[in-house]
Amino acid sequence: MIYKIDFTYSDEITVINKKQFDAHIRLYEGYINKFNEIEEIFEEGDSERDMANATYSKFRCLKKGANYSINGVILHELYFQNLGGSLSEPSTRTAEIISNYYGCVSDWTEDFIATAKASRGWAVMAFEQRTGKLMNVSLDSHSDGNIAYYAPMLVLDVYEHAYFLQYGDNKNEYIRRFMQNINWQVVDERMELW
Ligand SMILES: [Fe+2]
Repeated sequence: MIYKIDFTYSDEITVINKKQFDAHIRLYEGYINKFNEIEEIFEEGDSERDMANATYSKFRCLKKGANYSINGVILHELYFQNLGGSLSEPSTRTAEIISNYYGCVSDWTEDFIATAKASRGWAVMAFEQRTGKLMNVSLDSHSDGNIAYYAPMLVLDVYEHAYFLQYGDNKNEYIRRFMQNINWQVVDERMELW
C-alpha cells in the first residue's frame, strides 16, 4: 500500500494555474489508487500467475499496470516537488556539474527544452549510474523511456494533461514558463547526493 503526498497549490507556482494543478493532482491520485488496487489483487492471489503469457494474460496486464502506475506516482511527485522556484539559475555547485557535461548551463537549458519538445510524456535530467553521466532523458510515457539505473534530478511533465487546460496546444509556452519556475533549491538538494 502506498500513500499520496499532499501537494498544496501556492502563488509560487506560476507555470500552471490552480485549475490545471488540481486536475493534475486528481490524475496523480488515480495512479496511487490503481497501484494499490493491483497490489491487492497480487496479495489476494487472484493474479492468475499460472496462466502468465507474454501475448496476453491477466498476470501480464497487472505487471504492466503496476509498472505504469508506480512510475506515474514517482515522476509526478518529483515534478510537483521541483515546481515553484523563482531563481533563474541553479546553485554554483549544480551549475558546475551541469557545465561539466554540457559545457555551460545555457547549452544544457537548450538541450532540456529540446528534450521536452521531443517527448510525449516526460523530460528528465538525471544521473545515469552505469556511466556516471548527467543526461537529459526523453520519456514517451511513465513506463517508456526510463533508464534502468538512473536517478532523476529534475522532472518536467509534458503529457498534454499537464498543460492543455491552460495553454491549449501551446506546449512551447508551457515549457518556457516551467523553465522560469524551477525550484532549483530542490534540484540542488537532489544533486547533493551525487
Ligand atoms: Fe501528469
